[in-house]
Amino acid sequence: MKIKSSEFIISAVGPKQYPVDGLPEIALAGRSNVGKSSLINRLLLRRNLARTSSQPGKTQQLNYYKINDEMYFVDVPGYGYAKVSKSEREAWGRMIENYLRQREELKLVIQLIDLRHPPTALDISMYEWLSHYGIPLCVVGTKADKLSRNQVAKHGRIMRETLGMPKGAPLVLFSSETGEGRDDLWRIIAHAADI
Ligand code: GTP
Ligand code: MG
Repeated sequence: MKIKSSEFIISAVGPKQYPVDGLPEIALAGRSNVGKSSLINRLLLRRNLARTSSQPGKTQQLNYYKINDEMYFVDVPGYGYAKVSKSEREAWGRMIENYLRQREELKLVIQLIDLRHPPTALDISMYEWLSHYGIPLCVVGTKADKLSRNQVAKHGRIMRETLGMPKGAPLVLFSSETGEGRDDLWRIIAHAADI
């Protein structure tokens, strides 16, 4: 995938702000700090297009990035992030659920899970929810550089088992530090977006 252009478009707080040009959208979901912004930057070869931090993000918006005037990446920040009120969290949950279930332009959800640990209960319920609604899904195990080669393979197997992934379902072992998995993930994205 040759990146000719990539730009931040909008932090959408609701459907009225979603783009109307009909381009395919690839959403990135995963708990706070799992490495969503870092993965976007690595895929786009940009140092700091998507803001990364060691502090969990408090913002609850869909961050749209446009790539090559061909598609959008949609960064869905931090599910399971607790430092907001219950009602705020519920409103956020509804907005995300509606987006994931109803957005016609959505072609693929990339679910990021920290490869160092087994998927959490929240990761599992997210996976099951997306599968239940038949939303095209690719699981990405992040921070692979923090493990040895043996551990990467083993933790990949544990991730498949814990999530109950069917044989052949896509799992990419990824590192934003080294670029491991980047080519595989781009192939999956390009196929899903039909570009
Ligand atoms: P929120 O925006 O808060 O939801 O977090 P995020 O999912 O966007 O995570 P972010 O990309 O900001 O990364 C969180 C922390 O993990 C940062 O300190 C990153 O440098 C680090 N990190 C992310 N990906 C990797 C990786 O592949 N390898 C290593 N070693 N560190 C990573
Ligand atoms: Mg982020």
